[in-house]
Amino acid sequence: MTTEAGRLTVRLMEAQDVVLLAREVRLGRDHIEARWIERQQGLRTIFVAELGGRFAGSVSFDERPELPRLLHLFALAVAPALHNRGIGSALIAHVEEEARRRGLDGVCLGVADGNAPARRLYERLGYRREGDSYVSRWLWRGLSGAQREVVETVYRMFKRFQDDGGGPSQVN
Ligand SMILES: CC(C)(COP(=O)(O)OP(=O)(O)OC[C@H]1O[C@@H](n2cnc3c(N)ncnc32)[C@H](O)[C@@H]1OP(=O)(O)O)[C@@H](O)C(=O)NCCC(=O)NCCS
Repeated sequence: MTTEAGRLTVRLMEAQDVVLLAREVRLGRDHIEARWIERQQGLRTIFVAELGGRFAGSVSFDERPELPRLLHLFALAVAPALHNRGIGSALIAHVEEEARRRGLDGVCLGVADGNAPARRLYERLGYRREGDSYVSRWLWRGLSGAQREVVETVYRMFKRFQDDGGGPSQVN
């Protein structure tokens, strides 16, 4: 995919990214700090994308016993001003690279029924729905400190590498 490839960098999140990330993806600082604490506890790994030196987005991933031989991708978010430039696709490609590097069979993620842009993106990248919907509840914390519980109907989508030839995924 053509994107602003030369200017996009994807790297592991570092402690000093917390403030920037909160501002750019419009989540409260404590929300991002909670993610960073989980990172330090080894509960998730976080990639961040920078475009021309500006913070552009992030994605988390982990391995879960209920999803054997798969990398679980979650908390994908791109700064709103930078949507539709291939940054989300590049972050997903990096998680797929990591799954291949670990010798896993593919990547799994959950997408909300109502999130058409994300669903379309995943489908275009080769993810397919498997299984029934389920209800997911999580606490959203905004920049102003406001909190609300988000209740979403979610289903899982999978990309298994044997389905796409097993070659290296494109990294923008
Ligand atoms: C979902 C999300 C991460 C996608 O990020 P993104 O950076 O906009 O994703 P991309 O740019 O790679 O792809 C989005 C669309 O732009 C298109 N696109 C990519 N590069 C492009 C370019 N250079 N020029 C024009 N269009 C482009 C893609 O083809 C894709 O189109 P499609 O929706 O028809 O498939 C982003 O919308 C977001 O942060 N949403 C809020 C949080 C969220 O919903 N996260 C997912 C939870 S499951």
